Amino acid sequence: MSAQAAPVGSDTPTAMMAAVRPVVVVGAGTMGNGIAQVFAMSGRPVLLLEPMEAALKKGMATIEKSLGKLADKGVITADHRADAFGRIATSEAGFPLSECAIAVEAVPEKIEIKRAVHQMLDQKLPPDAILASNTSSISITELAAMTKRPTRFIGMHFMNPVPVMQLVEVVRGLETSPETVAETVALAKALGKTPVVVEDRPGFVSNRVLLPMINEAAFALMEGVADKEAIDTVMKLGMNHPLGPLALADLIGVDVCLDILEVLHKGLGEDKYRPCPLLRTMVAAGRLGRKTGRGFYEYR
Ligand code: CAA
Repeated sequence: MSAQAAPVGSDTPTAMMAAVRPVVVVGAGTMGNGIAQVFAMSGRPVLLLEPMEAALKKGMATIEKSLGKLADKGVITADHRADAFGRIATSEAGFPLSECAIAVEAVPEKIEIKRAVHQMLDQKLPPDAILASNTSSISITELAAMTKRPTRFIGMHFMNPVPVMQLVEVVRGLETSPETVAETVALAKALGKTPVVVEDRPGFVSNRVLLPMINEAAFALMEGVADKEAIDTVMKLGMNHPLGPLALADLIGVDVCLDILEVLHKGLGEDKYRPCPLLRTMVAAGRLGRKTGRGFYEYR
C-alpha cells in the first residue's frame, strides 16, 4: 500500500501552482477520480472535468473517502490529505486548460465520446501538452489520429483501484515520439507507480492476458462447471489471486469486460476471444458489477 502513495509536500496549493503546471483529468468515474487523486497526492494541481454533476459529486466523494482511508492508516498525514483534496479544482475557474501540461482522458469507452473530448483538449491545451488516454481497449494510434498532435499522444492505462494498484501501462502509439514516452514514464514514476511501456495492439498486454481468463470463468459458470463462489475460490486459493475472476469482473465493470473482449475478438480475429453470451445477457440486464450494485455478486 505505501509504495503507491508518493510523498506529498507541505506546499500550499498556490505555491504548488507556481512550481508545477496542472494536469487535467476528464471523467470523474471509477478510473478518473482515482487518477485525479493520485496526481493530487503527488503534488500536482488537478483540474477534474466531468459534465454530469451527479457523477462529479460521486467522484469527489470517492476521492475524499479514499484519502481518508490512507490518512487513517498513516500512509499520508492529515495535512497531506487536506492539501491533496484542496489541489483538485472542478471547473476552469480553478485552473484554465491553457495552463495544463498534461491531460488524461478517462471517459466511457465510446469512440465518439472520446473523439469529442480529445478534439476539445487538442484545441484548448498548450501545443507542448501531452494528451493521454486511459483507454483499456481502444487503439492509441486511432485516437491520436483524431488530434493535431499524434507525437504528443500516448496511452496511460491505470489499473483499478488506482490509488492502490502499482502499474501504469504506458502505450506507445505508432506516431508517439520517444520524448513523449520518456516524459510519461517519468510522470508515472513521480506518482509512485511502476510504468511498463507496451506497443499499441488490441488489449495491450494487461487486458489481452486478463480478459480471456475472466471470459473463461464466465463460460465455466454458464456451463455449470461450478457456481460463482467455487470458481472464484479456486482462483483465489489455488492461484493466489487477490480476487476471483468473477468478482474482478464486477470490480472492472461487466460492460467494460464485454467491450474489451469485443475489441480483442475483432482486432485479433480469433475465436478464443469471443465474448461469453452470459456477459452480454448481464450487460443487457444492467448487471454491470459494483457500480450498479449488482453483477455476478450483489453489493450494498
Ligand atoms: N483507496 C485507498 N485504499 C484502498 C482503496 C482505495 N480506493 N481500495 C482498497 N484500499 C485498501 C484498503 O483500505 C485495504 O487496506 P489495508 O489492507 O491496509 O486495510 C487494502 O486496500 C485492501 O482492501 P480491502 O481489504 O477492502 O479488500 P482486498 O483485500 O480485497 O483488496 C484490492 C482490495 C486491493 C482491490 C484487491 O482485491 C486486489 O488487488 N484486487 C485485484 C485488483 C485488480 O486486479 N485490478 C486490476 C483490474 S484490471 C484494470 O483495472 C485494467 C482494465 O483495463 C480493466
